[in-house]
Amino acid sequence: MKRLIFLMTFVSFGMFVYSQTIVGSAHDFSGRNWNTTGELCIVCHTPHHSDVTVSDAPLWNHEVSTATYTLYSSPTLDATMEQPGNSSKLCLSCHDGTVAIENFGGVTDGTRYLTGNSQIGPDLSGHHPVSFVYDAALSSADKGLFDPTSTSSGLGSTISDDMLINNKLECASCHDVHNGYGVDYLLVKDNQSSALCLTCHNK
Ligand code: HEC
Ligand code: HEC
Ligand code: HEC
Ligand code: HEC
Repeated sequence: MKRLIFLMTFVSFGMFVYSQTIVGSAHDFSGRNWNTTGELCIVCHTPHHSDVTVSDAPLWNHEVSTATYTLYSSPTLDATMEQPGNSSKLCLSCHDGTVAIENFGGVTDGTRYLTGNSQIGPDLSGHHPVSFVYDAALSSADKGLFDPTSTSSGLGSTISDDMLINNKLECASCHDVHNGYGVDYLLVKDNQSSALCLTCHNK
């Protein structure tokens, strides 16, 4: 009996902490009528014949966007903005609203596009900047940012290790596409009391 209780506690604890996955999230497309494969990963990844034209893309299977983006700008911005790079470009392959969601695995004639709040871009000027280097130099130039190389992200290691990709801030700095943290909006941490923002901004 004791062992059973132990086991049950362990199992429920495990479910609470570890069972946050893409299943049932906004990115679970296995049951969508436009995805006749019934599979989860296939809309974004394929084990074979992936698109190698986007560098660093993990076995990518979705048509990518060719859009040119209007970038965020402001007089107080210290970072140098560039066109979205590899990681964010993968998100924008659906979220900029120019490529149909069902354009994967070689399909190019889909008709369903992301619109409304889910559409981020091609005008990125009203969105948190992405695809720029966030390093110790930027934090000392800005003065209102933590040094990402030495500040804890609260996710296990430093901001650089846990939230940046090749030292850059990307969509995936704030979001986990696979819903690994099980937080609303696929965030990497709950933004209650702006906890996500205050991870990097020293305000
Ligand atoms: C909606 C698109 C999407 C779906 C669906 C998806 N992924 Fe991903 N995956 C991505 C993106 C984008 C990245 C690039 C990493 C990043 O920038 O967050 C990635 C990265 C990865 C990586 C390499 C980095 C890492 O996180 O370990 C693996 C492995 C992976 N995915 C496996 C899977 C598997 C397995 C499934 C299905 C159960 C899946 N993905 C479903 C978009 C998706
Ligand atoms: C294959 C297309 C595709 C790719 C690639 C993709 N998404 Fe999505 N995403 C969707 C769709 C479809 C939805 C659901 C939109 C809706 O219901 O209006 C969605 C929803 C979301 C949501 C809202 C979640 C919620 O719970 O409301 C976020 C946040 C998001 N995506 C972020 C990302 C990020 C970040 C990436 C890249 C790391 C990414 N997406 C890549 C198609 C995609
Ligand atoms: C600095 C953190 C941060 C970055 C970077 C970021 N997001 Fe978000 N995103 C959020 C937060 C927080 C929310 C929750 C809703 C809100 O507060 O507006 C959100 C919401 C969303 C939603 C749901 C939209 C809605 O209003 O329902 C989508 C889709 C999304 N993000 C996609 C993206 C994509 C694609 C990128 C990269 C181009 C990106 N995000 C970059 C923090 C971020
Ligand atoms: C992963 C780290 C990180 C997170 C999380 C983050 N930011 Fe940022 N944010 C930055 C960096 C770095 C810049 C670039 C600052 C610069 O170059 O002046 C920036 C830029 C901005 C700017 C534009 C500053 C300007 O001078 O124009 C605003 C406003 C902002 N962030 C607000 C937020 C809010 C609100 C949140 C939470 C939803 C958030 N940030 C989450 C790192 C982050």
